Amino acid sequence: MLKINIEDLKKGMTVLKCDKEWLNLPIFGKVLEDENYIDLMRNYGVKHVFVENNKVAQEILNTNNKESDKQRLSDHFNLTLKDFLFFKEIYNELMDFVKKMFYALDTEEFLDETLLLRSCYTIENFASRTPTFALNLFEESDDSDYLFKHSLNVAIFSSALAKAMGYEDKKIQAITVGSLLHDIGMKKVPKEIYNKKGKLTKHEYFEIKKHPIYGFKLAQNIKNIEPESLSVILEHHERSDGTGYPRGLKEDKISALGKITAITDTYDALTSHRAYKENISHREAFNIIFSWSGEHFNSILAKFFLNMLRPYPVGTVVKLDTGEYGVVFENNPNDVNAPKVLLVDPEDNSNVTLYDLSSYNIVNKKPYKKIESVLSDKATGIKPAEVIEHFLRSK
Ligand SMILES: [Fe+2]
Repeated sequence: MLKINIEDLKKGMTVLKCDKEWLNLPIFGKVLEDENYIDLMRNYGVKHVFVENNKVAQEILNTNNKESDKQRLSDHFNLTLKDFLFFKEIYNELMDFVKKMFYALDTEEFLDETLLLRSCYTIENFASRTPTFALNLFEESDDSDYLFKHSLNVAIFSSALAKAMGYEDKKIQAITVGSLLHDIGMKKVPKEIYNKKGKLTKHEYFEIKKHPIYGFKLAQNIKNIEPESLSVILEHHERSDGTGYPRGLKEDKISALGKITAITDTYDALTSHRAYKENISHREAFNIIFSWSGEHFNSILAKFFLNMLRPYPVGTVVKLDTGEYGVVFENNPNDVNAPKVLLVDPEDNSNVTLYDLSSYNIVNKKPYKKIESVLSDKATGIKPAEVIEHFLRSK
């Protein structure tokens, strides 16, 4: 058995175990074929792995040179078909877990906290690799209950934001758990009120406003739940100016993790499609969060969140000033307003061309094309996931 640095681990080696004893992956004891597991372990904080001391391992270690490291680094930043399909698979596996979690609540079985923590580790890993993605890109169907999708998305956004803010692992885990469970109290609110189309009566709104307290009480039954996770559930509707609920707390009385979840919850709610409303575009949601920052949301956290997501998350459908339609494929680190887009015919999602919006005319220094508007997902016949997958398959 050889102990090697995670950075030296390569396809073809047989991984036996890693330096995190609690981490048990299905690849242990087998020849490593899927390199995504290297990133997965890296994101779990693994520094060293133990591999079988065989000829393949020796050859790989001998030929590891700077060139291959450079290649690995560039692979990490370029979206490949393998990455994209892996993200979709993980997202949908997590969705199955969330559904099971809510059903368990229905039958009062309650939660298997080991499974909950394991799923939260997966969410943290997923979030750290996809912070600039529009999450609806990974949904396989849109018929799932809003509550499942919303819970998962808020957990992903909160985890990514806490990581971007430099929080320690324990806090990231606490906010991921709390965000995943933030709306579990909705299970105690009558469904006809929760799903009602149109304006709520005073009494119905009063019922809705109880869900953070219901959720807090339900989550208290989970063994070893962190107090900070409970605060997230209780405080995600509190607002900096004291106009939130259930307690009307002001900025200095709301926990830091509660403030983060207030932003990620609002953002996902605005960009989601519900029975009674159309979703709005990411761009409009950005503007709304920005206009409410200071008053409803902590302005530093709101800025961090908007910076993290970029103005045009991957998968955003845009209309260009040339009248063409595009799907954002990759952000440009030097100019967030000029991403690479896949130009697409709304009538035929397989007719796709990659175009870099940072290209400009060297004489007048003006870009050839630029984004004129952002469209909500339902506004055109364009299916962003299909467009991206089609392009990656054709490469
Ligand atoms: Fe809520």
